[in-house]
Amino acid sequence: MALQNTDPTKTEAWKKLSHHYKENTNLSLKDLFSDDADRANNLSIRWNEFFVDFSKNRITHETLQLLLQLANEVGLKDAIQKQFEGGIINKTEGRAVLHTALRAKESDVIMVDGVNIVPEVYKVKKKIKTFTDSVISGSKTGFTGKAFTDVVNIGIGGSDLGPAMVVEALKFYCNHLKMHFVSNVDGDHVYETIKGLDPETTLFVVVSKTFTTQETLSNATTIKKWFLEHATQADVAKHFAAVSTNAEKISEFGIDADNVFPMWDWVGGRFSLWSAVGLSIGLAVGYENFDAMLTGANEMDQHFATTQFEENIPVILALISIWYNNFYGAETEAIIPYTQYLSRFSAYLQQGIMESNGKSVDRNGNRVSYETGTIIWGEPGTNSQHAFFQLIHQGTKLIPTDFIGFKYSLHGDKDHHNKLMANFFAQTEALMNGKTADEVRKELEDNKFSEKEIGEILPFKVFEGNKPTNTLLIDKLTPKSLGSLIAMYEHKIFVQGIIWNIFSYDQWGVELGKQLANAILNDIEGSTIANHDASTLNLLHLFKK
Ligand code: F6P
Repeated sequence: MALQNTDPTKTEAWKKLSHHYKENTNLSLKDLFSDDADRANNLSIRWNEFFVDFSKNRITHETLQLLLQLANEVGLKDAIQKQFEGGIINKTEGRAVLHTALRAKESDVIMVDGVNIVPEVYKVKKKIKTFTDSVISGSKTGFTGKAFTDVVNIGIGGSDLGPAMVVEALKFYCNHLKMHFVSNVDGDHVYETIKGLDPETTLFVVVSKTFTTQETLSNATTIKKWFLEHATQADVAKHFAAVSTNAEKISEFGIDADNVFPMWDWVGGRFSLWSAVGLSIGLAVGYENFDAMLTGANEMDQHFATTQFEENIPVILALISIWYNNFYGAETEAIIPYTQYLSRFSAYLQQGIMESNGKSVDRNGNRVSYETGTIIWGEPGTNSQHAFFQLIHQGTKLIPTDFIGFKYSLHGDKDHHNKLMANFFAQTEALMNGKTADEVRKELEDNKFSEKEIGEILPFKVFEGNKPTNTLLIDKLTPKSLGSLIAMYEHKIFVQGIIWNIFSYDQWGVELGKQLANAILNDIEGSTIANHDASTLNLLHLFKK
């Protein structure tokens, strides 16, 4: 069940793409549109409540055909099937990759080690429902019989970013419970979070796939100590829940078995918000909304698994990204949601994309000879327009950008929404068309600038344009559409990892820093400092003084 192992640069498609790139370096988006009246229709996909317009990209029909050939040559179709069927495609950790099973239909059959895992997934979903219903309704109470008012999610990485992003994204659908997230091992984070909380009415959810993560265990221990200043050991059972694969460590921590939610090693941390890791999401928005998010993701899974590549949203977005990353040499991609609710979306995707595809060794164990994972960044529009858009418009770097907008706002204020969306559409148009010297001259002349003034200011007001963007216009930000949107990016990650011939589902790169931090903690807390490089030694001596 191994994945096909192909150096993408050795494929016919890659060679043709290199040649095609050289022949088309001067491709102008404006020309592409004037040459083809149907371009906007031809290069867009309508699916459910999504409209994905990828026509404002420096691609021709031939570019797309070659990119699709590349996908076929590296065996993408077969890879998708292997992933969905539970193949051990995370080879370096010997695991299947089945976050898709967490949102599968109850009637689906997905086998891991000869066992259908879907019934177990549904058993845990039922437990999430019972737990979240009882906390939200107030039937489950704290140690003095009062209903819960606050929930603290204690986790880091995938055990924090996903739930935190979704809780913010779905704030509109949240109930009365106030959600808090503690992740950093920085004590100021945890103390700042608990300082206003009432131990009688606060529920703590400790989320750690491994239950060995230093940050999470330190924060959970500090919080438990604080809690025990107000309550007894027996009360811990009422106030702490845990989500993990490590039952033994949870019981050592003293969390009641009734409040323990399992997860499985075939779910990667950064893809785990669909599992009980999303308990905080369920507590914030209610089980029905959590489940609607899973439905949205499942619909995107079906689209990805069954739609021909020409019409397949994650495949097309991944291929376009490969085009810029590997042929244009673009190093970064910006993701700009035009809704404040998605303010944590880029931070969440940074882990998803950069922890997955930030690899430099191929599936044969050799150093790759081509670029892999893109650098991801972004902030919501319109704030980002007043911050870093200058560089996208007039800087020297090519930054392909995804614009995500919604037809309807949630609070329904038409005046605000029209202004927001006017900016959304204006930016992609401006990035594409830019402003020529002739246009600038005319504008200045119309404003009665003298010839001398025009000569001095004109070059600074010219916009090159020709900047590529994708536009995702979605009906409304709902739990379901959010589920589809997240799943869309998850599948884009997968497609790119397959093409780059890397393993997207391990993260060995974060281990070394963790090991060194443990060693340095001994240096900091001990009486002597072990041998380090001269710079680190100086810094440690200074810190300990
Ligand atoms: O940063 C590495 C990592 O392993 C992530 O992949 C993961 O999401 C995070 O740490 C937290 O791990 P855990 O859920 O095991 O505490």
